[in-house]
Amino acid sequence: MKVILVTGASSGIGLQVANDLAQKGYRVYGISRSKIHEKKVKSIQADVTQFEQLKQAYHDIYDIEGHIDVVINNAGFGISGSIEDTSLEDAHELMDVNFMGVFNSTKAALPLMRQSGGGKIINMSSVASRLSIPFQAFYSSSKAAINAFSEALAHEVSPFGIQVCSVMPGDIKTGFTKNRRKNAIDSPCYQKRVDKSVGVMEDDERNGMDPEVAAKVIHRLVKQKRMPIYKTIGFKYKVFVLLHKLLPARFAHFVVGAIYGFKKD
Ligand SMILES: NC(=O)c1ccc[n+]([C@@H]2O[C@H](COP(=O)([O-])OP(=O)(O)OC[C@H]3O[C@@H](n4cnc5c(N)ncnc54)[C@H](OP(=O)(O)O)[C@@H]3O)[C@@H](O)[C@H]2O)c1
Repeated sequence: MKVILVTGASSGIGLQVANDLAQKGYRVYGISRSKIHEKKVKSIQADVTQFEQLKQAYHDIYDIEGHIDVVINNAGFGISGSIEDTSLEDAHELMDVNFMGVFNSTKAALPLMRQSGGGKIINMSSVASRLSIPFQAFYSSSKAAINAFSEALAHEVSPFGIQVCSVMPGDIKTGFTKNRRKNAIDSPCYQKRVDKSVGVMEDDERNGMDPEVAAKVIHRLVKQKRMPIYKTIGFKYKVFVLLHKLLPARFAHFVVGAIYGFKKD
């Protein structure tokens, strides 16, 4: 039976993914700071920013199961507001969880996966990695960093039979919206545009896809013989990503501005 580790499995996408995979008969361990109260998902309380906690947990799992087949690095959160008004603490914390968390979990898992003879690492990026979202600069940057990390990692570990995929979901209805941390203050010169832009984003998320859509995509990746390097979730978002690739940068920039309400006030 395949052993699958999911970080950030106490809520939203991670919870749905963990539950769906467990129901399909995989052995699933969910890792998050809060306890996971699901019958079929084994709960491990750990913080992805703490490498030693993950290392210990992954070794314990390996000792019990004898192999680790798939690691889904999904834990993450968002912050919003102008770059100028973002506190150093919030910026560091976001990069620590969203990006360093992926590194910590990958570093903890790799020696065990190599010993298992191969495996899959699925990193939760976002469409925001490609279309950098105004007033969510650090979130977008953390996801772009995950893409760069995943591409390099895929080269490094392919000789060991380890595949890597960076998953880029569009908007999904989860606890992410309420968990987004907003800047303590937004200077008056930014306030109106921050409210407009973050408001559009929040509406899109509240009306977004069901986490079940992401769970289905992840299940397909788990089953697939060869995973793609990138997987975008949601038809509309696939079109955005393609257009972003094809359009001149200045035009793509204009379109993102138009989506987030950046006409002259
Ligand atoms: N929702 C969307 O529209 C969307 C779109 C694209 C990408 N994503 C990405 O999908 C992933 C999951 O987001 P979601 O929408 O499911 O949000 P969510 O409902 O807020 O879930 C976030 C999960 O991350 C965990 N987490 C946060 N900080 C952690 C830490 N330091 N250590 C361990 N676990 C931590 C949380 O658990 P605890 O608080 O219990 O630790 C929770 O289980 C994120 O990486 C997000 O960026 C979401």
